[in-house]
Amino acid sequence: MKLLVTGGAGYIGGVVAAKLIAAGHRVTVLDDLSTGHADAVPADAAFLHGTLRDEAKAALGDDTDAVLHFAAKSLVGESVQYPQLYWSTNLGGTLALLDAMREAGTRKIVFSSTAAVYGQPEQIPVTETAATRPTSPYGASKLAVDTTLAEYARMHGFGTVSLRYFNVAGAFRTDRDGWLGERHDTETHLIPNVLAQGGDTLFVRINGTDYPTPDGTCVRDYIHVADLADAHLLALDACEPGRYRVYNLGNGAGFSVREVIDVCREVTGREIIAEEGPRRPGDPPVLVASSERIQAELGWSATHDLRAMVADAWQFTLSRAPR
Ligand code: UFG
Repeated sequence: MKLLVTGGAGYIGGVVAAKLIAAGHRVTVLDDLSTGHADAVPADAAFLHGTLRDEAKAALGDDTDAVLHFAAKSLVGESVQYPQLYWSTNLGGTLALLDAMREAGTRKIVFSSTAAVYGQPEQIPVTETAATRPTSPYGASKLAVDTTLAEYARMHGFGTVSLRYFNVAGAFRTDRDGWLGERHDTETHLIPNVLAQGGDTLFVRINGTDYPTPDGTCVRDYIHVADLADAHLLALDACEPGRYRVYNLGNGAGFSVREVIDVCREVTGREIIAEEGPRRPGDPPVLVASSERIQAELGWSATHDLRAMVADAWQFTLSRAPR
């Protein structure tokens, strides 16, 4: 198929683009490089630098079969500070993309949604039928896109799939591109923060140790970026005219911040100094996904555990560390 990957210079978009190319698809990446990196775009993808508003039409041309849509702002804290940026980029940008898709006759889209649409869920594990009560403009803007996609399926016959990711981690290597991994200029995520520059001694601050969890730190469900990417390939095949589907994506197991840091110690063999700090506002104590729906309907299952995620993230860090 001929595919457009928006946000393909970012962490997850880049890995998905690489997997699509490996599966034999032709890929164009559209990215404004506001947070992505040109060298994260797989070498065999065509690359167009620009925003969804300005360049979606050109990027689609008249023969694109489907879109995988990652381009978005994704920092919860920043979204509380600058909500308008999140509404205009995440919702406004997607509306511009959908308009361009209608004009171009491209009617399939797989969307990068998030567990943040659920806010602080009442029941664990979280299923797709849980109440959607986002607690940040980031989560709210992603939920608004989910709703829009359901409408585009109903009103315009689009085939749409929203994948609601829990905590994505790890890195992915191809012979052509080397290691593709997580490198945000503003890094908020736990594992890349621990591994940071790959030094002899690593340092991390634990955001809160008084949560109602077994060891007092937040529990999250980590999923390997390669498993996540595989779900996108399955979702692409599942885009069906007039139908909106939504799936949670996680491994179904919870790990506390302290447990993650312990795995980082085992994998790296380095000393890791973990300083106990205050809670980060807005962090739910426990988030664990039920991925039963995507397992049952699309046959997806996770194949990497937390240790594999940390090991791959570490290889990625070492591949970039100054020698
Ligand atoms: N944490 C630390 N120290 C750090 C970084 C993180 O203790 O240096 C803690 C966090 O406070 C949290 C846990 O590690 O308790 C995981 O934090 P991440 O930032 O790695 O991930 P989040 O669970 O906050 O974020 C994920 C997704 C977001 C989504 C959010 C919804 O990455 O896109 O869940 O809650 F919005």
